[in-house]
Amino acid sequence: MSASDSSRKVASGMRPTGRLHLGHYHGVIRNWVRLQHEYECYFFVADWHALTTGYHDTEDIERNTFDMVVDWLAAGVNPGAATIFIQSKVPEHAELHLLLSMISPVSWLERAPTYKDMQAKLNDRDLATYGFLGYPVLQAADILMYRAGNVPVGADQVAHLELVREIARRFNHVFGRESGFEEHALAALKKMGRKASRIYQNLRRAYLEQGDTEALERARALLAEQQNLSIGDRERLFGYLEGSGRIVLPEPQALLTKHAKMPGLDGQKMSKSYNNTIRLREPAEDVDRKVRTMKTDPARVRRKDPGDPAKCPVFDLHEVYSDPETLDWAARGCRSAGIGCLDCKRPLIEAINAEQKVMIDRAERFRDQPDLVHAILQEGAEKARDVARDTLEDVRASIGIQHR
Ligand code: TRP
Ligand code: SF4
Repeated sequence: MSASDSSRKVASGMRPTGRLHLGHYHGVIRNWVRLQHEYECYFFVADWHALTTGYHDTEDIERNTFDMVVDWLAAGVNPGAATIFIQSKVPEHAELHLLLSMISPVSWLERAPTYKDMQAKLNDRDLATYGFLGYPVLQAADILMYRAGNVPVGADQVAHLELVREIARRFNHVFGRESGFEEHALAALKKMGRKASRIYQNLRRAYLEQGDTEALERARALLAEQQNLSIGDRERLFGYLEGSGRIVLPEPQALLTKHAKMPGLDGQKMSKSYNNTIRLREPAEDVDRKVRTMKTDPARVRRKDPGDPAKCPVFDLHEVYSDPETLDWAARGCRSAGIGCLDCKRPLIEAINAEQKVMIDRAERFRDQPDLVHAILQEGAEKARDVARDTLEDVRASIGIQHR
C-alpha cells in the first residue's frame, strides 16, 4: 500500500480500560462505527500504552482487553469492515518504535504537555521511566505503521498528534533523501503527460513560493488521480511537492469528535472517576433507576414549581438522545410546570434503553463464545502484520539497514 493513500486510512487506539460507558460510546466509538465504512480502519487495544503508566498493575489487562473489545463489537465496530487487534500481538510496532526513537529528540518528549501533567497528577506512580517518556513515540509508531492520514481522538490527544507529525516530518527529512532525488522526480513528472505535469508544476510553485496550502491540496488530489505512476514515483512526487524528499511516513491529522463531552448523571462530564456513568449494555432496570434518581433543577421542589432546563442535567442528556419535538416538549413542560420531572425522564429512559438493547443483543454471542472474540483479534493481528511488515521493509530500506 502506498504512502499516498494515507487520506483513505484511519488508525486509533484505546487503552484497555475494561467496560466502556456512554461517554466512550458517544465520544469515540460511534465515530469509529461511522468511519469504518468510509475509510480503511485500524482499531487496536493499546495494551503497551497501559504499561507506560501502570507496569506494576497488570493483573486486569487481559480481562479489560476482552471486555472492552466485546463493548466495541456490541457498539457496532465490525470486524468485516475494520481491522481490530491488540497492539502487543503486532510486535512490529516495537521495531518501528525503536527506529523512531533514534530520531526523536528527548527535549520534544519532555515538552509534551501530558508528560509533566501526568507526572503531577499521578504522583502515586513511578512515571520517571524511559517507557513513559517515550509514550508519544510509541503512539507515533502505532499510527505511522499504517500510514494513516486520519486519527480520531479527543481534544486531550491533539498535542500528542502534533508530536507524531513532527516525528514523521523529521523521519522523512532525515531518511527520505535519495541521491538524484530531483532528477527522479522530474523523470516521474514526465510520465504524467504534458498537461497534468504543467498543472502540477504551477501548483507546486504556488505552494512553495506563496505558501498556498489549497494549491498543495489540489496538487495532491491531482497525483492521487494519476493512473500510470508507480508507487515509488508517486511518493517522490508527493515529496517533491513539499520540496523535501520522498515521503516515507505521511503526517497524520486529528479527526476531532463533536460530542466529545458527554454529560454524566450529575451534569459533569461522564467519567468513571466521577462515578456518574451509565455503562454500555447496562440492564434496563439499572438505567431506569439511575435516571429516575438523577438530580434535577433544584427550583422544582414541588410538582407545581416551574424549572429551568438549562440548570438540569436531565436536559443535558435529552440533548444527546431526544428529537427536536421531545426536546421542545420537555423544555416547555419544565418552564410551565406542565410536566413533572418523572414525566420528563420517561422518554429519556426509553431512548437510552432502546440504544442499549441493540448492544445487549449484539454482545450476546460474543459473551457466550469468547473464542469468537479471540478469533477476530487473531485475524485482525494477522491483517495488521501484513501491512506492518510492508511499512517496515520500506522504513529499513530508507534508513539503509535492509542488508540485501
Ligand atoms: N494514547 C491514547 C490514549 O491514551 C491511546 C493510543 C495509543 C492511541 N496509540 C494511539 C490513540 C494511536 C490514537 C492513535 O487514549
Ligand atoms: Fe429537569 Fe425535566 Fe425536571 Fe425540568 S422537568 S427540571 S428539565 S427533569
